[in-house]
Amino acid sequence: MALAHERVFGQRAEAIIYPEASYKAYIETYGCQMNFADSELVAGILQTTGYTFTPSPEEADLILINTCAIREHAEEKIWQRLKYFASIKRQRSHLIVGVLGCMAERLKKKLLEEEPVVDLIAGPDSYRHLPQLIRQVESGTKAIHVLLSREETYADMAPLRLSPHRVSAYISIMRGCNNMCSFCIVPFTRGRERSRPWESIVQEVEGLAKAGYKEITLLGQNVDSYNDRGLRFAQLLSKVAEAAPNVWIRFATSHPKDMLDDVLETISLYPNLTPYIHLPVQAGSDAVLERMNRGYSAEWYIQRIEAIRRYLPEAVISTDIIVGFCGETEADFEETLSLMRTVRFDSVYQFMYSERPGTLAARRYADDVPPQVKQERLERVIALAQAISLERNQAQLNSQQRVLVEKPSRRDPNDLAGRTFSGRAIVVRGAAAFAQPGDILSVNVTGASSATLIGYAASSN
Ligand code: 5AD
Ligand code: SF4
Repeated sequence: MALAHERVFGQRAEAIIYPEASYKAYIETYGCQMNFADSELVAGILQTTGYTFTPSPEEADLILINTCAIREHAEEKIWQRLKYFASIKRQRSHLIVGVLGCMAERLKKKLLEEEPVVDLIAGPDSYRHLPQLIRQVESGTKAIHVLLSREETYADMAPLRLSPHRVSAYISIMRGCNNMCSFCIVPFTRGRERSRPWESIVQEVEGLAKAGYKEITLLGQNVDSYNDRGLRFAQLLSKVAEAAPNVWIRFATSHPKDMLDDVLETISLYPNLTPYIHLPVQAGSDAVLERMNRGYSAEWYIQRIEAIRRYLPEAVISTDIIVGFCGETEADFEETLSLMRTVRFDSVYQFMYSERPGTLAARRYADDVPPQVKQERLERVIALAQAISLERNQAQLNSQQRVLVEKPSRRDPNDLAGRTFSGRAIVVRGAAAFAQPGDILSVNVTGASSATLIGYAASSN
């Protein structure tokens, strides 16, 4: 399952100051959590070759932009940023600009040809080669490496954590995707699915726990098909839960056709495995699901939701929905709304279908839902999703929740923002006076909007 949520784009590398700063790198990341994890890996690789990091592209010697290709809109943003980097390069002729990630993989040489500022292209399986590629550019030629691998999991490489608050960390447990959903570019940009050896995952988890991290998210395009020499995702979860008993463990993304009860049962057995499930449904009509090549029906999906609620009554469930996929009729679309009413998602990420060249859907079906119909359907999904999220959040009023504090609240510096154990966003009023990122607070919930809960700390523990 693709993990792309564009709403999290634009993270900047934290500056790490060394006494004798050498070359400075700036990394900008777009797209999914996997891309953020990859940027940390890239930062780790650069650090071993002597780079330091800057949060401002204007003073960088090397700019790397880690890109997303999931929708056309995501790529348009990258072209704009490249124009900006070109303006910096006019002042700093030695500046090297590299494009990484899914758009690099999709467009390959075309990027070099169409945007002269680009010196270097590296796809998702090429980061190990970055030092050589940079040297090649330094010696005067453009560099490109976009070979996809069947084995690369970067299991032996240490990421440099870029998040300013050392509270939450991502670990990628697998790469690529074998699913071939017809709308999706990911199998083409990230290649075949492969699982990272479980020992290296557990080792990284232990290291993060020792370093004081409180929350770890295990990442994969489809975690339910994790398979390391026969060891499956449920067993990996047990090993990780045991390796870091005081760390809250989350994961993404699950696939409805592969998510088995053993994973749900495992979550119910360990107090640090969090009952947050992101289970993209994409559409509520069986005809559309069939054309999407999703491998399940609406009824199957609803049964999976029932299984989640049976094992994990407190589960928070989110989903992805695409509106306006090829051939989607008004009646098909209404089945999506009706599924939303049945399931009652805590949150929904909704997207208008964007045709990606080379995908099965682009080759087989006409992108025939007019843009204004897509827009109107998107708005109807948003309105319904928000109404349901509000009710789900209001049902939390007057409850007491354990909350992991993540960062200062954006709205008011006296407040802190975090998440409940099951993954609901929450703002804790006035908590900046006595708590900090990484603390776990007991919070009485006193307010709820569709996007967040609001509460006051009862005590810290
Ligand atoms: N158009 C629109 N949305 C897409 N997604 C994936 N490919 C496309 C596309 N071509 C959505 C899916 C996926 C999420 C990460 O992005 O909903 O689950
Ligand atoms: Fe997710 Fe399907 Fe794309 Fe794989 S092909 S990344 S499962 S949406």
